[in-house]
Amino acid sequence: MRLSVIGCGYLGAVHAASMAELGHDVIGVEVDEAKAARLAKGEVPFYEPGFEELLKRSLGSGRLAFTTDFEQAAGAQVHFLCVGTPQKRSEYGADLRFVESAVESLIGVLSPGELVAGKSTVPVGTAALLADMIEDKVPDAMLAWNPEFLREGLAVKDTLEPDRLVYGLPDGEAGPVARALLDEVYSSIVSRGTPQVVTDYQTAEMVKTAANSFLATKISFINAMAELCEATGADVKQLADAIGYDDRIGRKFLNAGLGFGGGCLPKDIRAFMARAGELGADQALTFLREVDNINMRRRIRMVELARQVCDDSLLGKRVAVLGAAFKPNSDDIRDSPALNVAAQLQLQGAVVRVADPAAVENCRKTWPQLDYADSPEEAAERADLVLLLTEWQQYRDLDPVAFGKVVKRKSVLDGRNALNRESWEAAGWSYRALGRRAT
Ligand code: UDX
Repeated sequence: MRLSVIGCGYLGAVHAASMAELGHDVIGVEVDEAKAARLAKGEVPFYEPGFEELLKRSLGSGRLAFTTDFEQAAGAQVHFLCVGTPQKRSEYGADLRFVESAVESLIGVLSPGELVAGKSTVPVGTAALLADMIEDKVPDAMLAWNPEFLREGLAVKDTLEPDRLVYGLPDGEAGPVARALLDEVYSSIVSRGTPQVVTDYQTAEMVKTAANSFLATKISFINAMAELCEATGADVKQLADAIGYDDRIGRKFLNAGLGFGGGCLPKDIRAFMARAGELGADQALTFLREVDNINMRRRIRMVELARQVCDDSLLGKRVAVLGAAFKPNSDDIRDSPALNVAAQLQLQGAVVRVADPAAVENCRKTWPQLDYADSPEEAAERADLVLLLTEWQQYRDLDPVAFGKVVKRKSVLDGRNALNRESWEAAGWSYRALGRRAT
């Protein structure tokens, strides 16, 4: 099939290359000239394991190209909308400027019988508005909403082997036609027996925000338990293990620590609350406000704990921060809890050095006020305190004996409950973590 992918950021670039991998002819349309040029050369503008190989393979096959010219999307049977929907600057709602302008440009090249498939995360009700815009100008073109659930760090796998396919289809005769087109796009995924959920627009839009809200709630739930563990001396890790064995609950996303960040969870729950307010249903989502509050409180608590273990003053203390990305296997620092904590420590007078295997380049651009190191050892040289804030595998694997030789004081705060406490303590470290008692 001929496909176009509008917007080649994280989601769009991975989607475009993955669709080419499935055998389709794909044109990626990206307004940022530099980004389009880099992708066309096989250069990945972000860190994502396995993506560079996929991109190069897809470009090499001749089935994938990138352009800044919308005209080149003409003639594609399905046009995937993959532009960003960031949080508005001054309020919680989602900024739909990019979606609207992408659809306007697309309308100029759209022909009857073609399908626009929305993948961006949008406030519920957006698809119906876009469908009206399209129908007005190209009456026989169609719109479907086909949300994407990819996780950073696992984006290639999540795109090529999704847990489920969700199709929000138009009413009436266009519904089955749109479905057949999506089934053809995803035929190799469908034939593997991947579950499909076929819905109206509203449900498909809500599936995405509901899923992200649930995940955020699960993380904040365990972090609320961590607060209580801190108040009682209980251990949140054991608590999570014990409740996680109940398969109605499940152990995944019950890792207590610094909480969630990134480009999706925080903005999506805020946009969902804002949309509920517009719909007069704000009460239904007031709990998400608390989910957000619990999440933000963990960062404050981490700084408090750091001050506490530094004899109640951070002034002039050398602090090594391990991890800057919002999660491991990513160089994404959007709303990163790690960087937020690092900046707060610095504001309180600590001499902070940050290490991260992938995110330092991005950090230097956005947080130039912080000091960066090329390795955990360099960050920890003569440190009074080491903080693990993003649980990269190489940090989990640090040898506490050798690492102890670098620092001034063997004191570690495990912000992700990711280190092997016993071996760090056996190597003479004083170990503290969120939601766990001091020994
Ligand atoms: C998320 C959703 O998982 C994905 O389905 C959606 O498409 C986009 O948003 P992502 O932002 O890549 O994906 O990261 P995710 O793996 O969900 O982690 C989000 C944040 O939660 C990270 O900061 C992570 O460190 C934190 N987290 C995750 C916890 O604090 N504890 C956990 O148990 C799990």
